Amino acid sequence: EPDISDLVANRLRDVADFPKQGVVFKDITPLLGDGDVFGAVIRELASRHTGSSSAQPIDAVAGVEARGFIIGAALAHELGVGFVPVRKVGKLPGDTVQRTYDLEYGTATIEIQSDAVSPGQRVLLVDDVLATGGTAIAAWDLLGGVGAEVVEFATIVELAFLGGRKAMGERPVRALHVVG
Ligand code: PRP
Ligand code: HPA
Repeated sequence: EPDISDLVANRLRDVADFPKQGVVFKDITPLLGDGDVFGAVIRELASRHTGSSSAQPIDAVAGVEARGFIIGAALAHELGVGFVPVRKVGKLPGDTVQRTYDLEYGTATIEIQSDAVSPGQRVLLVDDVLATGGTAIAAWDLLGGVGAEVVEFATIVELAFLGGRKAMGERPVRALHVVG
């Protein structure tokens, strides 16, 4: 059985100086375009939340716009649970809560609807890449602030040299492939 970390590594593309000079961007587009690898990634992410008695049960998957939507929606479907969108600011109707944070290449503001989860719902937060951790921390804390019990942050790729796992502190992090 092929190692999931190797499968991911073989479908990542390094793009120099994107979106800014000096950033080597890890592009997951080749992975998404390979149905076998995309499927293996989603099944691997789902595996610890389903089936065995030691599985960690979850009630919903949350993902951050935009690439986190692709992974998160597929994973929610695989697990048979709902999906909670965490969006870039200004896109969600109704009452929302927001957070602004720093990225490797700028700043961003994300938001969720105030009624996005029911109290105590166990939420798995997912994204494609963990870099500085700014996005994951902001999303985690937004979800927690509206009553979710966020159980884990799961990502396909972790850029370890950017220190995101450390920045996440006590929040559990799972990465299928670690770079650097
Ligand atoms: C990327 C990536 C993560 C985040 C990781 O999204 O998809 O969400 O950056 O970086 P961090 O750990 O330093 O926060 P980006 O903001 O580029 O948006 P996109 O998904 O809309 O392209
Ligand atoms: N790839 C994808 N997303 C990212 C990266 C990257 O290299 N750095 C920060 N977010």
